[in-house]
Amino acid sequence: MSTFWSLWIIVLTLVCLALTCWVLFANRKVAVRDDEDPENKTTGHVYDGIEEYDNPLPRWWFYLFVATLIFAAVYLVAFPGMGSFKGVLGWTSAGELTMDQKKAEAIHAESFGVYSKMPIEELIDQPRAMKMGVRMFANNCAVCHGADGGGNFSFPNLTDSDWLYGGSPEQIKHSIAEGRSGQMPAWGPLLGEANVASVSEYVLKLSGQDGDSALAEQGAAVFQQNCAACHGADGAGNILLGAPNLTDDIWLYDGSREGIQHVVRNGLNNNMPAQKDMLREDKIHLLAAYVYYLSYNEEE
Ligand code: HEC
Ligand code: HEC
Repeated sequence: MSTFWSLWIIVLTLVCLALTCWVLFANRKVAVRDDEDPENKTTGHVYDGIEEYDNPLPRWWFYLFVATLIFAAVYLVAFPGMGSFKGVLGWTSAGELTMDQKKAEAIHAESFGVYSKMPIEELIDQPRAMKMGVRMFANNCAVCHGADGGGNFSFPNLTDSDWLYGGSPEQIKHSIAEGRSGQMPAWGPLLGEANVASVSEYVLKLSGQDGDSALAEQGAAVFQQNCAACHGADGAGNILLGAPNLTDDIWLYDGSREGIQHVVRNGLNNNMPAQKDMLREDKIHLLAAYVYYLSYNEEE
């Protein structure tokens, strides 16, 4: 604040206070004018036959005003208020914010601190930590993965032991913190409809479903040439690419003949948003433990 504005505020504040004092003290006594009856206590204003009394303020009211004036004086000495004068107590709003933040951090450290250093394998035995996990999962993950983590069309089930990107505590934590991106090119234009049909038949067979054996045999060759690089020669998937295991009957999309053909023809582009910019590390750690717990319980 420049000196001018600082002075401006100081002068304005002091003049206002002085005026208030003057109004207060100048009206303490009833002004009795010579030419009037000393017994007459009215101001002389009459309206509709109603006269206005000229009484001083009640005593308690007057002292209340005096008290507020004293308070104002003490306040302006102690706290910032008079222009750029900082007040003798050295209080600042930034200082108060820092104090509050420190308090909040202390409370937060109490609830998360212990857990953030605990290995995920141990965290799953901490009922309170898992309760916090339930709440955080509901707030941040349930929209996509379902309230129970059971997944949905295109959103993986997190409660089973089938993982696109691996189910170790580290792999789960990585999925959550860094996000994941599962991509498969559209094979329709590359392979043509006949090959899409045959390779889909092969995938159908791989997963243990009924399919046309002759067609599937043709598809096997197409698979080795085009799909094995990601899904593995045996079709068991690759967690480095998030390429699903095609030999089980667990489907991220639709596992019917038409569903498989559709996916193969059109390709996929699926994203798990990275949480590391949205959630603190200790929260991610707890969430990873919770997801691990969900699948761990399923396996037992
Ligand atoms: C906007 C939707 C969305 C939200 C929100 C979301 N996810 Fe995901 N998540 C996905 C998708 C889609 C995938 C699959 C990505 C892929 O196929 O590459 C995935 C994959 C995962 C995986 C890997 C699964 C596997 O099989 O390897 C984990 C673990 C996971 N999410 C946990 C979480 C957690 C914990 C949260 C909450 C913090 C969360 N996700 C929030 C959409 C979401
Ligand atoms: C570049 C690597 C890559 C190649 C090559 C590839 N895929 Fe995929 N495929 C993926 C990924 C990654 C996903 C999962 C995408 C996601 O996360 O949503 C996937 C998903 C699928 C699915 C859906 C599985 C489910 O659970 O619903 C089918 C079916 C499939 N691929 C079949 C094929 C076939 C058939 C070929 C060969 C013509 C092929 N893929 C080639 C990477 C690949």
